[in-house]
Amino acid sequence: MDRIRIRGGNALNGTIPISGAKNATLPLMIASLLTDDTLTLENVPHLADVEQLIRILGNHGVDYTVSGKRLAHDTSTGRTIHFSARNIVDTTAPYELVSKMRASFWVIGPLLARMGQARVSLPGGCAIGTRPVDLFIDGLQALGARIDIDGGYVAAEAKGGLIGTRYVFPKVSVGATHVMLMAASLAKGETVIENAAREPEIVDLATCLNAMGARIEGAGTPTIRIEGVTALSGARHRVMPDRIETGTYAIAAAMAGGDVTLEHTRGDYLQAALVALGEAGAEVTATPNGVRIVRNGGGVHPVDVVTDPFPGFPTDLQAQFMALMTRANGVSHITETIFENRFMHVQELARLGAKISLSGQVARIEGVPRLAGAPVMATDLRASVSLVIAGLAAEGETMVNRVYHLDRGFERLEEKLSACGAEVERISG
Ligand code: EPZ
Repeated sequence: MDRIRIRGGNALNGTIPISGAKNATLPLMIASLLTDDTLTLENVPHLADVEQLIRILGNHGVDYTVSGKRLAHDTSTGRTIHFSARNIVDTTAPYELVSKMRASFWVIGPLLARMGQARVSLPGGCAIGTRPVDLFIDGLQALGARIDIDGGYVAAEAKGGLIGTRYVFPKVSVGATHVMLMAASLAKGETVIENAAREPEIVDLATCLNAMGARIEGAGTPTIRIEGVTALSGARHRVMPDRIETGTYAIAAAMAGGDVTLEHTRGDYLQAALVALGEAGAEVTATPNGVRIVRNGGGVHPVDVVTDPFPGFPTDLQAQFMALMTRANGVSHITETIFENRFMHVQELARLGAKISLSGQVARIEGVPRLAGAPVMATDLRASVSLVIAGLAAEGETMVNRVYHLDRGFERLEEKLSACGAEVERISG
């Protein structure tokens, strides 16, 4: 199993190209199930989760070809992949596949809308909390689907097609909003979704669906209107930049110190996090093609943050920001409101010398003057990268085990950090 070795202490200086967003790519790939035409996605990142979803979609009959592979020295553009779901051969998503990646549950929306039926395994628990699927079930029932749960599977049926409706989400959910957008695009009549997730990835999916012929208005606001159409066509769509990767490297730069420009991205996708970084003492400026983060001298100031749905502080940057706060010159508090068990990194940060105590959903972090390298491991993607960030500022060697978590969501992490002067290397085997 690969590991990442970090020798802490180097400042980061240089430019980091940001990849296409994992959490936009996954629903966009799933949207290919909605049409028998070809959906071409550009700027697709090379990540374990993308490869896994390719396998899952293949099980339903989706063919894909890759073109325009980037040259080894060109780090600025991702892959272009053409997805074709001309023949859906299977409307069942089995446990063996869905249990490996929660987002694969989302195939239930397009399969049901296009084929009138879907049988998808319940995703099961995961390292960051229970993550139920009640909102998906409620929403699809509101669109007229008949749903049974049997033997660990959600069986959904709408033989005569889905029917437009008004549905108010009792709680904001990114995944359930994606699924409702896809399903309602092929429903009869108008659907209005209230209390929809407003994440930029929702807007990216809606833009792509509209390019495929859907009629969606209001994505990015709490109220989304979808006028159903009878069929969707193919389209070509460029995946938006990864705002969580952007925020992660921005926090890494604030942690290690230095001057880093993040390019091919957009600061307005992560204002809440950039404001917090500014309060922590980093200079954050917008550039024409991204964001520049500078922290030369000066300590890290303690900043309290509370995670919230977009446009709030993202839960997917919570662990990374906590790593930064371990070096602050004072006490900070981080409140996690999205997932009930997303503090798995706390114990591992403690191994590096961090002082963190937990009380329910609130972490109290008392900044320490130094962290010391140690072997660590984490059980989810963002927790793992928080350990890399801590390792950048720790004295001596930090070895991050179970790197496959990082490979799920960070493209060429060690290369991108090394190019800015960090001592980070992958040890294979
Ligand atoms: C998406 O997960 C992201 N995943 C997550 O990123 C991210 O942390 C999360 O949104 C919140 O921003 C992808 O986009 C692939 P939710 P999702 O439904 O859609 C509860 C990463 O590291 N809920 O918005 O699964 C749920 O338990 C990942 O890249 C229900 O109660 O998140 C949670 O408490 C991790 N019932 C809250 O809603 C439901 O039916 C928000 O979850 C669905 C969700």
